[in-house]
Parts: sequence; structure tokens; C-alpha cells
Amino acid sequence: MKDLWSLPLPELIARARTCTDQWQGKKVFLRGLIEVTNYCVQNCLYCGIRRDNQKVMRYRMDEEQILSLVREGFQRGFRTFVLQGGEDPEFPPIRLARLCKKIYSLTRGEAAITLSFGILPRSGYRLLSLEGATRYLLRFETSDPILHKRLRNGIPLSRRLQALEDIRWAGLEVGSGFMVGLPGETEETRIGNVLLAKELDIDMGGVGPFIPHPDTPLGDSPQVDLEPAIRSTALLRLALPGCNIPATTAAGSLEPRGRERMLEAGANVLMPNLTPQPLKKAYSLYPGKICVEESGFECISSLSQRVAEIGLELSWERGDAFRKRLPATKEGNNGSKC
Ligand code: 5AD
Ligand code: SF4
Repeated sequence: MKDLWSLPLPELIARARTCTDQWQGKKVFLRGLIEVTNYCVQNCLYCGIRRDNQKVMRYRMDEEQILSLVREGFQRGFRTFVLQGGEDPEFPPIRLARLCKKIYSLTRGEAAITLSFGILPRSGYRLLSLEGATRYLLRFETSDPILHKRLRNGIPLSRRLQALEDIRWAGLEVGSGFMVGLPGETEETRIGNVLLAKELDIDMGGVGPFIPHPDTPLGDSPQVDLEPAIRSTALLRLALPGCNIPATTAAGSLEPRGRERMLEAGANVLMPNLTPQPLKKAYSLYPGKICVEESGFECISSLSQRVAEIGLELSWERGDAFRKRLPATKEGNNGSKC
């Protein structure tokens, strides 16, 4: 892994792209993102919507608002919806499960439902799965346990890993990932991030550059450029050829061509933000978030053009986890190497 990490960037990217072409083809799967609530009881040092940030305009979408966005998204062709929020006690598993059930029936079971609301009890993940959820996203954020504990305000990495195990146990596709460029991170940490993702055999893996938010304790941290996040994306693709990897909004926020660079390096997913305009601005994990002025639906034609310019094409398919698309082998579907 260290050898790969040290390759000249163009060579690493070329290898990752070849691997992506072999396993995923030229398709870039679309997911409709809905940021349901920006309330959070947690106080992660890096995050703009942390509990102690008093400057945030807090909001919660109501059920009808969420369902009408899903309805519109489904009519326009989306076959995956990602509902995301902070750890908000007003959205306990039972309420999320009710929402899943309604989305499931609204979309006749044709759309994948992905949730991302932080750590829940094991039974909570199971309930979501029973009511129609298909996937759950929970980044481990960093593979360095000391850094994790410090940046996540005392929560140990082992608790995060337990939750990821619970998600798998509940029958949900497992999404995780990490930030790159956190203060205190080393090259070892970055390689360790990919190794941990591989060990967890994640189905979806998000890699995002850390962008310091001025209203957080890490506001004065240096901004690391996008290159290590690109390297990490390429390495993740080589480690897990079947993984669904988004070209993250954070990458696009750091650099105008950030998402294209992620796609060139092995990402195969884009997540237009369908959250209504005044709210998505308030879901501010980091400054400079892109696409906050227009509707996610409007972004699609420009995304299609951007993707075509780099020789790829948008796909409206569900884009399920590879382990579901292929019959399982003894080694596991993600076991092969590129
Ligand atoms: N910069 C980049 N990404 C961030 N996230 C939270 N805060 C920041 C930041 N300042 C990411 C975390 C979290 C995801 C929803 O957003 O990885 O899991
Ligand atoms: Fe809450 Fe997630 Fe932000 Fe942590 S990273 S404060 S858990 S929204």
C-alpha cells in the first residue's frame, strides 16, 4: 500500500481509472441528497453544525417536505435517496423507520434508501432495515484512534467501528469513509484510512478533504490542498474495486474541478443536493459549500456535461453494492485486486 501511495500522482490515477473502467465501466451513479436536520447533539471539533456552534440557523424538515422532495426526485428519475442529518434526538430510529416505510411505498420499493444520522443503537439499524432502508453511511473519519478521540470530542474509534458492525449485522449496505488533511494526521494515518476501509470491506466509501470552519475549534487549522484526498480516492479504488465512491461536495468546494478530479481518480458516484435552497446553506459543515444557490434538480444538466467532458456518463440506475450485483464468491466480491 505504501508503494502505491508513493507513486507519481498521474501513474496512481491512471491505475485507479483503469481499475474503475474494468469494474464499474464509465457510469457515474446519481444519488439525490436531502439534508433533513442540522441539529446535532455531538460536538466534533471539525464540524460546522456541532452542538456548540451558536451561529448556525438550525432547522428540521417535516415529513411532508421530505416526502414531496422524494416524490419529485423519483419522478425525475432518481433511484437512490440519501437522507442525512446530525445526531438529532427529534429523529429517533422509530421516526426514521416510519419515513423509510413511506418512501418505500411511495417509490414502490424501486428506490434505494440510504440514511446517515450518526450512531444509533443496534436495534435502530435493524428497524430501519426492516422498514425499507437499504444503506447506511457512517464515516469513521480517521483511522488514528488518538486523533479520532480528540476530534470527536471523546468518542473512541472503537465505538464507531462497533456501529459499522451493527449496520452490517442489520442487513444494510455499509457506507463509511474519512476526511483527509485533518490537523495531526500523518502519511501513516492516510494509508491506515484505506487499510481500515479495506478491512471493513465497505460497500460505499466517501473521501473528503477537511475544510476548516471558522466557527469551530479547528477554524485556524491550515487548509491542505486536494492532492492527498485524490491520492486516497485512487488508493481506495485499488483496494476495493467494487466500492461505490462518491466524488464529494467537499472536493468540489475546495477546487472548481475537485469532483472531476475525484472521478478521474476512481470515484463513480455524484450526489446532487436536493435540499431546498434556504436550508442547504444552513447545513454548513464547512465553508464554501457549492451548489447552495441553485436547486439540485437544476444542477443535473451541468453535471452531465462535466462528466461527459472527462469521458464518463451519468447513470440513473440504483447502483447497488457490488456484492448484490454479483453472485458471492468464496473470496468475496471485493476481494479481487486490480
Ligand atoms: N470539512 C470537511 N468535511 C467535514 N465533515 C464534517 N466537517 C467537515 C469539515 N470541516 C464531514 C465528516 C462527516 C460528513 C457528513 O461531513 O466526514 O462525516
Ligand atoms: Fe454531528 Fe456529524 Fe457534525 Fe459530528 S460530524 S457534529 S456527529 S453532524
